[in-house]
Amino acid sequence: MADAATLMISVGSYLPERIMTNQELTALVDTSDEWIRQRTGIAQRHIVAKGEKTSDLARHAAEQALDSAGLVAGDLDLIIIATSTPDDTFPSTATKVQHQLGAHQAVAFDVQAVCAGFVYALDVADAMLTAGRGKRAMVIGAESFSKILDWSDRSTCVLFGDGAGAVILERSDNATGYGVLASKLHADGAHRDILYVDGGPSSSGKVGHVRMEGNKVFRHAVDKLSSVMDEVLEAADMPVSDVDWLVPHQANIRIIEGMQKKMGLSDDRVVKTVHEHANTSAASIPLALSAAVGDGRVRDGHVLAFEAIGGGLVWGAALVRYGRPSG
Ligand code: UT7
Repeated sequence: MADAATLMISVGSYLPERIMTNQELTALVDTSDEWIRQRTGIAQRHIVAKGEKTSDLARHAAEQALDSAGLVAGDLDLIIIATSTPDDTFPSTATKVQHQLGAHQAVAFDVQAVCAGFVYALDVADAMLTAGRGKRAMVIGAESFSKILDWSDRSTCVLFGDGAGAVILERSDNATGYGVLASKLHADGAHRDILYVDGGPSSSGKVGHVRMEGNKVFRHAVDKLSSVMDEVLEAADMPVSDVDWLVPHQANIRIIEGMQKKMGLSDDRVVKTVHEHANTSAASIPLALSAAVGDGRVRDGHVLAFEAIGGGLVWGAALVRYGRPSG
């Protein structure tokens, strides 16, 4: 019998209705549509409505992923939400969504790895499923980053948006070559001060706001992401030419294009949503994946390369052959 594999069998997503354009931001801070587009690629972002919570975004994305897989909440054994903007300090947003979905038998917890949250949660879920801790997992990236932005700080408030994306993972004992092919995570807490939130339960007692020295983070991004991408390609024993789609974290079009160039990928092999969604932190990869599955670009059997870096610093990458083997 082949080793256990973790298939990625469906995806769902949700974006809040309200769209905020770059132009609107010029009323809040000294910025311009031109600066934001040129430096980041961002044209707009979605923002939660009053009273709309991270759990609401996550639940909508989860329901769509369940629908498209033809599954019900009772089929899930594990729910992990990657988020840095939970509804409450505790309990976890995952337990809230578990209850709302009615996934009563599912183990549920949050993973906090900021913008790398999705690749972190994917690795944890893969490890649990292949270790026999259940048959199906839902990994959700969900964020209401608008709630932790300082709307008077032009160096951060123009960059982020809200949203959620969810994938369903399924353990298989006979699907060699499908599912999670390789995954690698890294962390280096020495870089804490270039990207952090200036608050928290045991420091200020307040939620706090995002603080970032963007150009310093930028300098780490392409180097660390390309080196971790090399690691997963090597671990999977796969040439980069076998990658059908790079589905990167959507922080900045210049970082995405830097990775695209390093990997030697043409435009038709990179999923880019940063112009429409901005940086949705842990939600950005599953949101991008959902867009590309939804419009037919990503199909069953395609090899996907995920990569992300975030506050910590934390970073990682994964290679996944999407869908189920036919026949
Ligand atoms: O997802 C988590 C990880 N985060 C990231 O990956 C973010 C990585 N960093 C970036 O994407 C980029 O560094 C930014 C988009 C944040 C900034 O772009 P940059 O090219 O690195 O610009 P900079 O920070 O070096 O700033 C250049 C200038 C500065 O003015 P001076 O000092 O040259 O006069 C800033 O004050 O741009 C100014 N600036 C702005 N101007 C207009 C900063 N923010 C704005 C703004 N509008 N919103």
